[in-house]
Amino acid sequence: MKQANANGKSILVPETLLIVDDEAGIRNLLHQKLSREGYSCKEAGTAEKALNALAASPIALVILDIRLPDKSGTELLPEIKLGYPDTAVVMATVISKVNVATQCLKQGADDYICKPFDLDEVTLSIRRALERRSLRLKIKEYQQYLEDKVEEQTGEIRRLFLGAIESLVCALEAKDRYTGGHSHRVTEVALALGNELGLSATDMEDLRWGSLLHDVGKIAVDQLIQNKPDRLTQEEYEHIMIHAHVGAGIVQPVVNDSVVEMIEHHHDHYDGSGLHQVVAGSDIPLAARILAVADAFDALTSDRPYRPAMSRKKALDEIKRCMRTQFDPVVANAFLRTMSRKSELLALPY
Ligand SMILES: [Fe+2]
Repeated sequence: MKQANANGKSILVPETLLIVDDEAGIRNLLHQKLSREGYSCKEAGTAEKALNALAASPIALVILDIRLPDKSGTELLPEIKLGYPDTAVVMATVISKVNVATQCLKQGADDYICKPFDLDEVTLSIRRALERRSLRLKIKEYQQYLEDKVEEQTGEIRRLFLGAIESLVCALEAKDRYTGGHSHRVTEVALALGNELGLSATDMEDLRWGSLLHDVGKIAVDQLIQNKPDRLTQEEYEHIMIHAHVGAGIVQPVVNDSVVEMIEHHHDHYDGSGLHQVVAGSDIPLAARILAVADAFDALTSDRPYRPAMSRKKALDEIKRCMRTQFDPVVANAFLRTMSRKSELLALPY
């Protein structure tokens, strides 16, 4: 068996065989013969000792006697195949029990050898079983390589697609003088909030994508309505709000459900009073509740066609005012804490 040494060079290492037989004389005979053939041999006189040896270090092949004092070889075989699927097993039996040994082939044994042993046949059987094992390992390794490759390429395609959607969001924002840079600013605030709320690394990654892409559905919104300088009619407001649902549909093929739900629910109100809302309170995904606060703060502090930007202090007061109605109080309070720390750091008035 080839193995890499400490310098990364390939060296030949003898394969380890475990001889399991209750008769010391038989173990000794096989041990001597197989050692001469270049294998490293270990012995076990009981099923329990065999399992201990398997647990202690890797074993390439087990020669397993059918008759053992504590447990039969046929009982031990499935345990070995379950715990050590890469270990080959050759059953050893007296000629009168050959039918039992052939049954073992169906349960995963590679071969059987009959007592009294013809040592050359034993060697041949061991070699063939090890060759089959080596082939199985190579196939397994190749399958793993293919799976890794597919996963890597799927990840690359996903990254490319998400990057393309992000570019689309930037292009949409660049076209609109009121929303330029909105998604990136919202993402920055949402991540600071996620951090404050102790989100896991996975949830933070979802939050990042959900925040960056949350308004991609605005591609379906009429620009004239979006940039209307007057108050929107109910019908126009409803038209603009379809962007949450449309955006969720756009990203759905390449992101997980958490990101889809975050986008779908980012305009939900905590008290359930939002447009066509079906969930409320803590049933709204946490990431969507975070995004709602970050999104609202950036919208309030930016110019809009129908009103100028609010001051930072006024916007924070507005978030405070809408706590428990539009915003989750836990999230809104975390936001106020974050902003207060940031203000201290930057010596801002609020
Ligand atoms: Fe939105």
